[in-house]
Amino acid sequence: MTIQRINPISSLTGRINVPGDKSISHRTLMLAALANGNSEISGLNTGQDVQQTQLIISALGAKVENDKGTCLVEGGKLKTPNQVLDVGNSGTGIRLLTGLLSGIPIRTVIDGDSSIQSRPMDRVIFPLRKMGADIRSKEDNGYAPLEITGKELVGIEYEMPMPSAQVKSAILFAGLSAQTPTTVLETQPTRTHTEELMTMCGVDLKTNQNKITVAPGRPEPFKHKVEGDPSQAAFWAVAGTIVQNSHIEIENLYLGPTRTGFIAVLQRMGADLQINPETGELVIRSAQLQATHVAAHEIPSMIDEIPILAVAAACAEGTTVFEGLSELRVKETNRLETIQSELTHIGIAVEIDQDSLIIHGGPIAGGNVNSHGDHRIAMACAVAALISESSIHIEGWEAISTSYPDFTNDLECLSGEGV
Ligand code: S3P
Repeated sequence: MTIQRINPISSLTGRINVPGDKSISHRTLMLAALANGNSEISGLNTGQDVQQTQLIISALGAKVENDKGTCLVEGGKLKTPNQVLDVGNSGTGIRLLTGLLSGIPIRTVIDGDSSIQSRPMDRVIFPLRKMGADIRSKEDNGYAPLEITGKELVGIEYEMPMPSAQVKSAILFAGLSAQTPTTVLETQPTRTHTEELMTMCGVDLKTNQNKITVAPGRPEPFKHKVEGDPSQAAFWAVAGTIVQNSHIEIENLYLGPTRTGFIAVLQRMGADLQINPETGELVIRSAQLQATHVAAHEIPSMIDEIPILAVAAACAEGTTVFEGLSELRVKETNRLETIQSELTHIGIAVEIDQDSLIIHGGPIAGGNVNSHGDHRIAMACAVAALISESSIHIEGWEAISTSYPDFTNDLECLSGEGV
């Protein structure tokens, strides 16, 4: 395990690009694998999760070639792979692929790392079985590895029991191979990338308020440039706010409303953030933060940003409350616990009250933390270190390669110093 030391710094200045959006990257690769012909995707996320999805679609028979930042995929003829499909650490990878493969007449086994093997898969197995899918959890316990024998599926109408774009997308991907249309009803809106990208590929998909209906069919080959990941920009939005004398510009971000809840929360805490939705630019200047109250209905639009928002709350004046965080218990780690334990190690008082997180603002002392293999916990702690009284040693730093392998380079570039 790698230990990374991050020191306090005096300012962050400059213009950067963050990696391509991870959610969009997975989906474009899967759609390209299904489409009969040649697709071209540029700006894919460079992290390990998306690399695993690239390896998986090649194992399934798609031809994948990477050429100067562009990924060329020849899809359409999927076959039974001669290996277990390994998603690594990716919940999006395993859940969406389970939906996609349920209706393709091949046999597959999907597995992942120890974190994946402890994350619930019954949330996709249950609705997919209603469609006629043959999915076996190897130990019959609702966890990976999953064995899928592609079957003829029928469309269903399914009301989501939890806000989850992964579950919604698994069902919509399966719906492409069903005999009849499939409808998903959302009780809370979640990220809409599957809907946007399927529509871009000519799939017959309609959204009517909270009801999404997909007709059976295959995507057409496409060309797509993946925009920057707002969830990675969130680390710099908080870093540029809490480190004095900072001015950061980030280009070319995906800034759709289902992903930008963190910007609204930081702005109401007093952050100086300007966005230009047309160019995808986010400009960040230092500011003093005040505590806020984040209600449960706001959480899905910032579901991956709670670790870094917790750092913002630690730096704010007053006590911040985040409500409705039950879904955080089933992320890469139980993030309610890992946020509490790691912030406590660096001197911040954090309480968990059922599904709420209560964070008391105060000075960040510094010390030793552990990522627990969770990329977002590692990077949130790195941002906290930038204003710590001493410095922070982060054990398990290699976890950042899941989504943002160049994080340390971007930090060096913005701080003008070696890290
Ligand atoms: C994602 C959906 C969210 C998010 C994850 C990516 C997606 O998960 O946390 O990082 O790409 O659909 P849930 O669907 O479990 O909320």
